This record gives sequence, structure tokens and C-alpha cells, in this order.
Amino acid sequence: MATLLAFDVYGTLIDTHGVIAELEDLLGEARAAEFSRRWRDKQLEYSFRRSLMGAYAEFSVCTEEALEYTDRALGTQLSQTAKEHLMAAYGRLPAFAEVSEALARLSQRGVTCVAFSNGTREAVEELLRQAGIDQHFSDIVSVDEVKRFKPDPAVYSHLRTRLEASAADTWLISSNPFDVIGAGHAGLHAVWVRRSSDAPFDPWGGEPDLTVSDLLSLAERFSVR
Ligand code: 2OP
Repeated sequence: MATLLAFDVYGTLIDTHGVIAELEDLLGEARAAEFSRRWRDKQLEYSFRRSLMGAYAEFSVCTEEALEYTDRALGTQLSQTAKEHLMAAYGRLPAFAEVSEALARLSQRGVTCVAFSNGTREAVEELLRQAGIDQHFSDIVSVDEVKRFKPDPAVYSHLRTRLEASAADTWLISSNPFDVIGAGHAGLHAVWVRRSSDAPFDPWGGEPDLTVSDLLSLAERFSVR
């Protein structure tokens, strides 16, 4: 089988801090960045905890509960309307600037690309469509199909089963170190998209198979394989 690239969605293709303009309108510039960062961190923490507890709920529930928590933690007292507005904005987050061109290059070279996410199939479908990049993906694999979150080994194993792909042919592409380590632990190849040059990798004693600064660099690397 040919090489298959499985792209993480939130943080890798789609900018989770794309709600910053809405947050600035609601909270002012000074507090918006911290709110956005803490919201995203808490969303992921809730997904990890729900997986560990065997208390799966759709990723949008983690997002919504994390929004509520962040509002309480920072004492920002957002109205219900403002929270609904932010959740709606989260459903149409933008893609990072280079993503569309990079995916087009990979498609031209016949590389199979799938989206692989904590989000449900419906949420990811809509997100990719709104961001104008849905046409580049041959499939969407959601952890919702196994009711566990990344980095549970079951989700990486499900990815291979669903796509009938061998571990040797499957590459996980993610900006999230926990996802890269999870995929490697499950026997897949993993690429870390290090979008910020000062982003640290977890010191767990292993390295990604490949590190790139963005998806155009990834497209370069996969053009010579
Ligand atoms: C995703 O699965 C981990 O949020 C990331 O799309």
C-alpha cells in the first residue's frame, strides 16, 4: 500500500486560537490570549480525563465544559449568549495559512490524506468545509467511532483498521506532542509539526520520526519519498 498521511485536525490543520478576535471583542486584547490558551489546555485535559475515567462524551462537550471552566477560573463572567457565540465560532475555526497549498501539493503527488481527530465526523466535516480544505481528504476517521480520546492506543489501532493500512505505511501528522508520542507508542510513524520554534517536545526519551515547521515543509519531504 502507498504512504498514507493521517492529519490531526485541531492545532495542526485548524488554528484553535482562531477565536481570538471574538475573545478580544468580549474581553479586550490583554485577556483574550490567556483565555484562548487556557480554554484549549482545559479542553484537552478534559478529553484525557474522560478517556481515563471511561466517561467518554463528544469532544464538543469537552470544549463547552472547558469554556465554562475558563470563564469561572478567570472570573470573566461571560453571558450565555457570549458563550454560545464563542462555541459557534469554534465550529468554523480557520485553517493555518499554508495548509491549503500544502495539501494541494500532496494531492498532486498522489499522496493519500485523511483527517484523524478527537472531533466527531460531523464536526470535522463541517470544520474542513468551512475552512475550504475538505476536498483534499479521502476520508475522516474520528475517535468517536471507538469512544476514546487520543492518545489511547485504541484510537491509533482503529485508524489502521478502518483504513486497512499497515503501521509501516501510516504516518500521523500532528502539532500536538501527546498525539505524536501516542502514535509512536502504537507503532505508527509520526511527524511533529513544530509550528512555533520555541515549542518544546515532551522529554519522554523519544523523538518524532520527523519534525517540520509547517505543512509546506512536510509536502517537500514527502515529495522525495
Ligand atoms: C484533534 O484530535 C488532538 O485536538 C486534536 O484534532
